[in-house]
Amino acid sequence: MARLVVQGGIPLHGRLEANGAKNAALPIMAAALLAKGPVTLRRVPNISDVWTLTGILKSMGCLVEYDGEGLMKLDTSTLTTTKAPDHLVRKMNASFDIMGPLLAAYGEGEVSLPGGCNLGSRPVDLHLAGFRKLGAEVTSQRGFVRANANKLRGAHILFPKVSVGATKNCLMAATVAEGETVLENCAREPEIVDLANFLVAMGAKIDGLGRQTMRVTGVEKLHGCDYSVVADRIEVGTYLVAGAITQGDVVIENCVPGHLESLLELLQEMGQDLEIGHDHIRIRGRSPIKPISVSTEPYPGFPTDLHPQLVALATLAKGTTTVTENIFNGRFMYAMELVRLGGDVRVSHRDVIIRGVKQLDGAPVDAPDIRAGGALVCAALAAHGESTISGVNFIDRGYQEIEKRLAVLGAKIVRADFED
Ligand code: EPZ
Repeated sequence: MARLVVQGGIPLHGRLEANGAKNAALPIMAAALLAKGPVTLRRVPNISDVWTLTGILKSMGCLVEYDGEGLMKLDTSTLTTTKAPDHLVRKMNASFDIMGPLLAAYGEGEVSLPGGCNLGSRPVDLHLAGFRKLGAEVTSQRGFVRANANKLRGAHILFPKVSVGATKNCLMAATVAEGETVLENCAREPEIVDLANFLVAMGAKIDGLGRQTMRVTGVEKLHGCDYSVVADRIEVGTYLVAGAITQGDVVIENCVPGHLESLLELLQEMGQDLEIGHDHIRIRGRSPIKPISVSTEPYPGFPTDLHPQLVALATLAKGTTTVTENIFNGRFMYAMELVRLGGDVRVSHRDVIIRGVKQLDGAPVDAPDIRAGGALVCAALAAHGESTISGVNFIDRGYQEIEKRLAVLGAKIVRADFED
């Protein structure tokens, strides 16, 4: 199995261009099932989740051509089945994004309960409740969700809790439902706005993009379009932390600083030197790193997907930091791996308490999920000596060619095969 081998202690220097966002590209690929015509996507990141969803759509009969450099062409009019291959669906949570489009465009869908990062329970009850409100019959038995409807009807859906996934699925389904749909207590993540922009580019009628309440007026059908995916704020945030933790000087270009306000404020509070431009962010790591206290919240709050990376930075702070995780009850697997690198990290219920140490020391660690992998790479880059990171399959799900991109910034990091 491959592992990343990192020689830490080198300050990163240089410039990187942000990739397109994993969490926008995936629902947008799923939404292409609604298009009665060809779709061209640009800035699609070359990550394994994109290849997994490509495999799902192809196995259902769709034409998907991806050049691995950002350009993807889809024609879903050749779909031959509304049953998704469960061995692929179980590889990632976002696979379930195809259910809403299948139901809306074809009146039926059969998708297994999704797999993906083990962050604790990943239910889809809010998705299913929304489909039922739109008039679908939905069953969830023996690990499979089956839904069907002759024609979806507009409805008033109030999400009892903010859910990115349920907001995406109900939004997509509502675009071609009969009449008006009101979605209340929506997730407001930039990736949701990007999905909505894509749907509008296909002819959907949506008001309230990025707001807690969205109104959708159903249309007869959606046409194809040519669309470029928004920058990946989580990838950008991860590389900013890498620049800070190595006390380097890193510029990330072609990104949307406004999508990272919560992180940028925290990094400034931690004493890091930030220059924020219209579409670039420069970070110069500064000592001492100051401790902070923060809770993860739905957007625009501090994102759960940057929680592990921030904790990695806090391991070298001068003082004690607290991070409270309010989104996923299983987000803490990374903590013990940071302890292997010399961090003083304890978890108590939803709180992570990090007492700053003078230095981290290289060690063998294992990434249990995507963002934990991002955090361990950041910590290994700062640690003295050599670290090896296994679980690279998780890292590759969410970060494109991470070792190549960090090597551009001067990191000593290679991918090597190890006998397991
Ligand atoms: C999306 O997951 C992202 N994944 C996650 O990123 C991200 O951490 C999460 O949103 C929160 O921002 C993609 O976009 C592919 P939720 P999702 O529905 O849609 C509960 C990454 O590393 N819930 O907002 O699964 C759920 O258990 C990944 O890129 C229900 O109870 O997140 C959780 O506690 C990790 N019932 C909370 O809501 C439901 O029907 C938030 O989940 C759905 C969710």
